[in-house]
Amino acid sequence: MDYLKILGGQNIQGSVLISGAKNAALPLLASSLLFEDGLEVSNLPDVVDVKTLVRLLEYLGCGILWKDAHSLRIDAKKLVHTKATYDIVRKMRASILILGPLLARFRKCEVSLPGGCAIGARPVDLHIKAMEKMGAEITIENGYITAKAPNGLRGAHITFDKITVTGTENVLMAAGLAKGKTQIINAAKEPEVVQLCELLQQSGVEIEGIGTDTLVVHGRDGEALKSQKISVIPDRIEAGTYMCVGAILNTKLTLKNVDPRHLESVSDKLEEIGFGVETLDNELSILPAKKYNAFELVTSEYPGFPTDMQAQFMALATQCEGTSIIEERLFENRFMHVSELQRLGAHISLKGNIAQVYGQTPLNGADVMATDLRASSALILAAIVAKGYTQIHRIYHLDRGYEKIEEKLRKIGIKIERLKD
Ligand code: EPZ
Repeated sequence: MDYLKILGGQNIQGSVLISGAKNAALPLLASSLLFEDGLEVSNLPDVVDVKTLVRLLEYLGCGILWKDAHSLRIDAKKLVHTKATYDIVRKMRASILILGPLLARFRKCEVSLPGGCAIGARPVDLHIKAMEKMGAEITIENGYITAKAPNGLRGAHITFDKITVTGTENVLMAAGLAKGKTQIINAAKEPEVVQLCELLQQSGVEIEGIGTDTLVVHGRDGEALKSQKISVIPDRIEAGTYMCVGAILNTKLTLKNVDPRHLESVSDKLEEIGFGVETLDNELSILPAKKYNAFELVTSEYPGFPTDMQAQFMALATQCEGTSIIEERLFENRFMHVSELQRLGAHISLKGNIAQVYGQTPLNGADVMATDLRASSALILAAIVAKGYTQIHRIYHLDRGYEKIEEKLRKIGIKIERLKD
């Protein structure tokens, strides 16, 4: 298996080009099932999760035409079957995003239950309840969700008792072809959800309240969508991760192809710690701090501080003067990176879903293991400021959501190489 070898303490300079957002690309790709004559998606990130979903769509019978590594055309005129098997779904929980569009357009589907993952149980009960409210008959047996809607889906009043990003996205896609109006209360408002709404809207689905937590979708009563082109928005989590690269080395770093509006909570937190943040159109620069102060953060749904940036800020907290407090409110087990950071010398104590990080602590290189996508990037952050060499193993987690991370880091001066065990 591949591992990364990193020598800490390098100086960096220059800029990083941010890729398209994985968490926007996945629902956009799934929505291709709603189109009768093709969907073209560009600025796709070249990451494993995107390839996994495209393979799943191809397995269902979609025609796939890659134009280059970042853009393709998907044709879902007709499918050969509507079953997403365990061996694909287990690789990527977001496969659940085909449930809504398959039901809405093809009126049946079988999707393997995703099972938990490193960061928590992550059930899909809210997705299932919503589909049932829209008229789907759903049974769960042998690890599969078997769903059918012989008369098509009908609009419904859906209130999510927990904010769910992919749950909101599934209902949006189902509601787009349903008969009548669907109201979604307590909807997720992440930029990735907004872009899906915009694609549906430009494809003929009337949606009110885009960007708010109350959405009203006027369904097309089974009439499939017409061909569209969409370019994936920049990845705010990849961008936030590289902001932390500049922060942890206390050096100016410029990011290109970002949308600074999607990063406000992250920029605000970095400024609170002591860094500068400058934005100009689709560029953003982080500027060095005279002193890094310890901080408190609580993760919450957008536009609050993103849970997907929690691990990266924990690595940064090891270099901040004082005791930082980090509370993870979305997932019950998103502190897997703590023990690995401790192997590098970090002083962190955990009490339930609250971590206390004592800084500033000099870190020393060691062998560490990636446990999930964002934890992997936290280990890279720690490694680039640690003394000596760090080897990061199980980096298949990283490849799921970061495009060419070692190339992008090497380009700005980090000593990093990908080796084989
Ligand atoms: C999306 O996951 C993202 N993935 C995650 O990013 C992100 O961490 C998460 O939203 C929160 O922002 C994609 O968009 C592909 P949720 P999702 O449904 O939709 C509970 C990354 O690093 N819940 O918003 O799966 C759930 O257990 C990934 O790129 C239910 O209880 O997350 C969690 O505690 C990791 N029942 C909370 O809601 C359900 O039916 C939020 O989950 C659904 C969710």
